[in-house]
Amino acid sequence: MTDRPTGAGSLPIPGPALFELPGRVALVTGAGGDFGRNIALGLARSGAALFVTDLNEAAAQATADLVRATGAQAASCGGDVSQPAEVAAIMSRFDLAYDRLDILINNAGINPHQGRPEEFPIDVWNTVLATNLTAYLAFAQAAATRMIAGGRGGSIVNVSSIASSGGMGRGNLAFGVSKAGVDQLTRELAIEWATSGIRVNAIQPCQFTAAGIRAQVQDPTQAAIVARMISGIPMGRMGAPEEVVGPVLFLVSPASSMVTGIVLPVDGGNGALNPGGSVPAAS
Ligand SMILES: NC(=O)c1ccc[n+]([C@@H]2O[C@H](COP(=O)([O-])OP(=O)(O)OC[C@H]3O[C@@H](n4cnc5c(N)ncnc54)[C@H](O)[C@@H]3O)[C@@H](O)[C@H]2O)c1
Repeated sequence: MTDRPTGAGSLPIPGPALFELPGRVALVTGAGGDFGRNIALGLARSGAALFVTDLNEAAAQATADLVRATGAQAASCGGDVSQPAEVAAIMSRFDLAYDRLDILINNAGINPHQGRPEEFPIDVWNTVLATNLTAYLAFAQAAATRMIAGGRGGSIVNVSSIASSGGMGRGNLAFGVSKAGVDQLTRELAIEWATSGIRVNAIQPCQFTAAGIRAQVQDPTQAAIVARMISGIPMGRMGAPEEVVGPVLFLVSPASSMVTGIVLPVDGGNGALNPGGSVPAAS
């Protein structure tokens, strides 16, 4: 239909092909974790070649193996996204593997410490911001440089959290602030790069049964807090890691060629629920 850069390549005829990613190359950070592994596999099954990276090199390699088992191409490396020199090293490894970049999924994230704001350790604050926010900018810069040089546009998806748009309490100070920064980074970059055909969007998940929360769900001493989390999700359950894949595929594919600068809730209705509201029982 058109050859102009849309951040999704040339547009296919509207229909299922809108979600396909033939010939695209995608880079996923935090790809050894639950979200990153599922996203990498979803992109691969849609036709993309993958470069996956994680602090845990073996976990990144394991994801690359799973991607290859789908028949897709994959390369991997380890590295700490919070260190600018390591981001540069990861991108050098990327450039050895591929000569184009179409899709970046900024996904690596941590929430290592819950604590009172008046005592929150500044070194932990700095580490959380460096990992969850500054690294997203560093990878976005590296990706946009390559996307602009390629002249085909591209698509960036930042993994945010419901903690970005409302205080969670419970000492999630640095995490919530870092994810709020991710949302605004998404909007700023979307505007700056719109005319280069680079779309920048975010997803905002509620609690999903990834490793960290699975441990909480299985811990009887955490039952009250788990019940509180679920009571904030009108659909009455946490998400499964596989359920982030569809929203990401939408945002990186031609299906969303006119969508940029949004923060898409993937939250079972959490953001729609007024804190004083009630969820009716199932009928
Ligand atoms: N699981 C949820 O309920 C949930 C909810 C909202 C947002 N998120 C966000 O989704 C993203 C993925 O979370 P997940 O649930 O898959 O967690 P996870 O812990 O399973 O995966 C995160 C991955 O990031 C990697 N990582 C951490 N620090 C790194 C660093 N400095 N350099 C490189 N890699 C690093 C870890 O090794 C891990 O493999 C995170 O940004 C998280 O904040 C998760």
